[in-house]
Amino acid sequence: MRRAVCPGSFDPITLGHLDIVARASQMYDVVHIAVMINKSKQGLFSVDERIALIEESVADHGNIKVEAFHGLLVDYCEQRDIQAIVKGLRAVSDFDYELQMAQMNHGLSGVETLFMPTNPTYSFLSSSLVKEVATWGGDVSHLVPEPVLRELRRKLERPAG
Ligand code: PNS
Repeated sequence: MRRAVCPGSFDPITLGHLDIVARASQMYDVVHIAVMINKSKQGLFSVDERIALIEESVADHGNIKVEAFHGLLVDYCEQRDIQAIVKGLRAVSDFDYELQMAQMNHGLSGVETLFMPTNPTYSFLSSSLVKEVATWGGDVSHLVPEPVLRELRRKLERPAG
């Protein structure tokens, strides 16, 4: 079995993430979406909420597994016999840090990282920007899957006035 992982915080998952995951799912038998738990980073969505939103958003794909993990990504990969980490690159500004992580992960365990160019439609997109725009009432309907839009509206709903 050829297995890959798309790791991240996914707070929340965006259409940019989904584009990468969907493309990876055509290249691998199984694609894992690993919601990496970072206890020092307070999210808008709990880890359980993020997982539920991702599961709802990838329901049409038969070969995508979603789970949370607390620890090193290389340990996640080793425990599940995952051969590749797939990461989207939005712009050259992503490259510095992603290269560092890829080289560190390769040095730790030999796992390969494959970079996939983000669909240009989403090259400016990040979970943080989505949260900021949504917080101030901006329209993010073209940037996130339907379940995320629904939950953003519910969570950020403020009493009128
Ligand atoms: O969506 P993010 O927050 O940009 O994702 C970063 C993430 C979660 C992929 C990265 O921080 C990570 O892999 N964390 C797991 C802990 C780990 O393995 N750290 C060493 C990386 S070289």
